[in-house]
Amino acid sequence: MAKQPPEGPPGDSPETVPDAASDFLPDTKEGKPPDEAATGGEEPTPVAPPAAATVEAPKPKSTVNLELLLNWVPKYKRRKQYILFVEDVSVSFDGFKALDGLTLYLTEGELRCVIGPNGAGKTTMMDVITGQTRPDSGEAWFMDRINLLERDEVFIAQQGICRKFQKPSVFESLTAAQNLVLALKAEKSVFSTFRARIGKEDRDFLDEVMGQIGLREDAGKLAGNLSHGQKQWLEIGMLLAQRPRLLLLDEPVAGMTPQEIDHTKELLLGLEGNHTILVVEHDMEFVRSIARQVTVLHQGRVLAEGGMAEVSANREVVEAYLGGSDA
Ligand SMILES: Nc1ncnc2c1ncn2[C@@H]1O[C@H](COP(=O)(O)OP(=O)(O)OP(=O)(O)O)[C@@H](O)[C@H]1O
Ligand SMILES: [Mg+2]
Repeated sequence: MAKQPPEGPPGDSPETVPDAASDFLPDTKEGKPPDEAATGGEEPTPVAPPAAATVEAPKPKSTVNLELLLNWVPKYKRRKQYILFVEDVSVSFDGFKALDGLTLYLTEGELRCVIGPNGAGKTTMMDVITGQTRPDSGEAWFMDRINLLERDEVFIAQQGICRKFQKPSVFESLTAAQNLVLALKAEKSVFSTFRARIGKEDRDFLDEVMGQIGLREDAGKLAGNLSHGQKQWLEIGMLLAQRPRLLLLDEPVAGMTPQEIDHTKELLLGLEGNHTILVVEHDMEFVRSIARQVTVLHQGRVLAEGGMAEVSANREVVEAYLGGSDA
């Protein structure tokens, strides 16, 4: 049964960046070297042998658990190649497996599309990455050193994982520009945000973001008066204002006009390379227009992965998903 994460202490300190010396210090799932992990990192309580038992010669204390080490080194090296490393993650709700051994690796700067039928586990996958749902088993690491399964939502967001939900959630009674300022100063109160002067550097940065999302001319408009598509872009802009490392976008073009979809395509392609982006989308035409690597989820696990042409030709994918869609 998926557990809600415990409330972590605010200002949770970042995990230690492995330095050259610690590169080969195994951090098993407990974050400890294998020989420590095997004992839970605590000194074992000495237990007197039963009187009649044969007393074995004690093992030397410094013996490294070779098997654990041999398993750990290749995995750690693999983990270092990816900005997001999700391996064998399972989540169940009242016995139903929403994720069933999900494995997903993202390299820095890539634009990855995730598709799959309703209920495949796409949103649950995002919930795990952002700390909203704790899996029953598996691993999830960000930038090879942040164990996402041990962190709360606030800490994870502070590390640069920004998520956009399907429904736009902008402040309708503020202008587009004020929404961006709020996002930039997310750590401050609304009151201090409006009193605080925005420095030139921040102003230039927000102007650049306005340009990226195509809202320069509407910067002074109330967000409530923007079109559905413009609100979606503004929300993407609010994520960009937080200088994210990984952007998670859940169905970003749902409800958009063809022109708005086209603009969103340009926007995301423009971000590729500078940001790592994970897009979940049902609109196959849109996916085809932006996709490099596509991951197909089905019943909580990866059914296929590859270029759009490759996964579209996969018989299992056609049967499970594409056959029934308008793709
Ligand atoms: N909190 C929950 N409690 C019980 N079941 C849940 C919960 N969250 C998700 N599920 C179930 O887990 C499965 C996966 O749901 P999820 O929302 O991740 O699918 P999805 O791929 O995002 O689907 P869609 O394309 O419709 O958005 C579904 O069967 C859903 O009903
Ligand atoms: Mg969903």
